[in-house]
Formats: sequence, C-alpha cells, structure tokens
Amino acid sequence: MSGNWIKVCAADAIDEEDVMRFDHGGKTFAIYRSPEDDYFATDGLCTHEQVHLADGLVMDNIIECPKHNGRFDYRTGEAKGAPVCVNLKTYPVKVENGTVFIAL
Ligand code: FES
Repeated sequence: MSGNWIKVCAADAIDEEDVMRFDHGGKTFAIYRSPEDDYFATDGLCTHEQVHLADGLVMDNIIECPKHNGRFDYRTGEAKGAPVCVNLKTYPVKVENGTVFIAL
C-alpha cells in the first residue's frame, strides 16, 4: 500500500551513488541515487542504533552505516552485513519533471 506522494527535491540535487536525508512528518528518510541513475528511499535511521544513514557511504547498491559499518541493500532494505540484522523499510519513489517524490 502506498500513501500520498510527497515532494522531496530536484532529481539532480542528489549525485549518482549518493544519499540524502529527508525529514517529513516527524520521521527521517534516506533517499538514494544509484549508479544506474535510479532512485530509492528507505527509513533514514540504521536499525542497529538509530544513526542517520544519510551520513553513511554509498557503494554500488549498498549503504554503509557511519557508526559500526553495518550494511544494507538500499534497493530492498535488506540487512547485508553485521552488526545490522533488521531490514530497513523501503518506500516507492518516482521522478516526474526532474523532481523526486516518495510515497508515504
Ligand atoms: S548504528 Fe548502524 S551499524 Fe551500528
């Protein structure tokens, strides 16, 4: 189920292989642009100790948490490397007329 589409930013505000923090409705999200130029969104806090993932490192399709280097596949939210073991929630993303939207 997807809810309302929320405007995030201009598509070119996020570099390829980069991640940006987006806050909305009291929650924080992480928005990614992949090497293939696709966009993805997950919850913004690591499931290990609630650190902002937007401060982490993007490598291919992986986000590495800045605190203990836990890894997630940001396309699926799947936890990929210790110490993280709980997946991230993901959200639908679309780009229209050069603007990124996520469905919340
Ligand atoms: S807080 Fe992210 S791996 Fe520990």
